[in-house]
Amino acid sequence: MLESYIPKDNILSGNVHSASQALKVTDINKSFGKQGQDLSVLNGVSLTVEQGEFVSLVGPSGCGKSTLFHIIGGLVQPDSGEVWMNGREVTGERGHISFMPQQPALFPWRTIEDNVILAQEIKGTSKKDARKEAREWIAKVGLSGFEQAYPHTLSGGMQQRVAFLRALLSPEELICLDEPFSALDALTRSDMQRWLLNIWEENQRSVLFITHNIEEALLLSDRIYVFSNRPGSVLQVVDVPLPRPRREELTDDPTFLKLKRELSQLMKEEQKK
Ligand SMILES: Nc1ncnc2c1ncn2[C@@H]1O[C@H](COP(=O)(O)OP(=O)(O)OP(=O)(O)O)[C@@H](O)[C@H]1O
Ligand SMILES: [Mg+2]
Repeated sequence: MLESYIPKDNILSGNVHSASQALKVTDINKSFGKQGQDLSVLNGVSLTVEQGEFVSLVGPSGCGKSTLFHIIGGLVQPDSGEVWMNGREVTGERGHISFMPQQPALFPWRTIEDNVILAQEIKGTSKKDARKEAREWIAKVGLSGFEQAYPHTLSGGMQQRVAFLRALLSPEELICLDEPFSALDALTRSDMQRWLLNIWEENQRSVLFITHNIEEALLLSDRIYVFSNRPGSVLQVVDVPLPRPRREELTDDPTFLKLKRELSQLMKEEQKK
């Protein structure tokens, strides 16, 4: 009987899963079979996002970042390791995160507005309320007039903004964004970063963010996980001790510049390997 009162990973095992952790992944390994050979993609990856934290992943192309997101979202099963959210194991389960994939996966038969409200619709929010909120946001990201357009009539960067809004307005607590601003010009990118910061600072949602851009990671994050080359493992965890609210002026701050130099150096050395 007593067994049922002992948490699966109890304190004695040294592996505590706290309800205050929006996400905890432990010791994830993943290989893909390729022409009879196994391609090892993730090697013992562990990371944590506390509730309300903004955490970024940076790492070389092909090191398994998107694969890790797919595992967190339950789209891909890890070979070993676990995914926990708010103290509950959810390995292989879908529907727990708000996810913006690297390729904006919009439904071609739904209008922009209907793409934006998709997740709210699934979760049962009133369509009228969802549409009202969606329209305000569509205007903010510079897509006024495209509410009733279909995705194929939008440019790649415009589609990316729609996919970003959909993730942002999804009701799940943890938002996973896979290079959400990669297709945007510098000015639009900096607008989107500002909105993301504002929203995050107002609502304190938990965010896991993939980017190749070190400056972006430093500007937005509380903590940065730097990944090694494939098979991806955590090379370094960097706390970002910069005050909030963060604004672009921060990019002149000596601490910011020092961290930027160190991280750029680390990434360069990793890419040379
Ligand atoms: N479903 C799959 N089947 C086979 N191989 C896969 C699959 N998904 C990913 N891979 C391989 O896993 C490796 C890691 O891919 P992944 O997309 O996770 O990298 P990434 O770090 O997100 O790269 P990028 O920064 O370029 O987006 C690549 O070699 C890729 O070919
Ligand atoms: Mg990727």
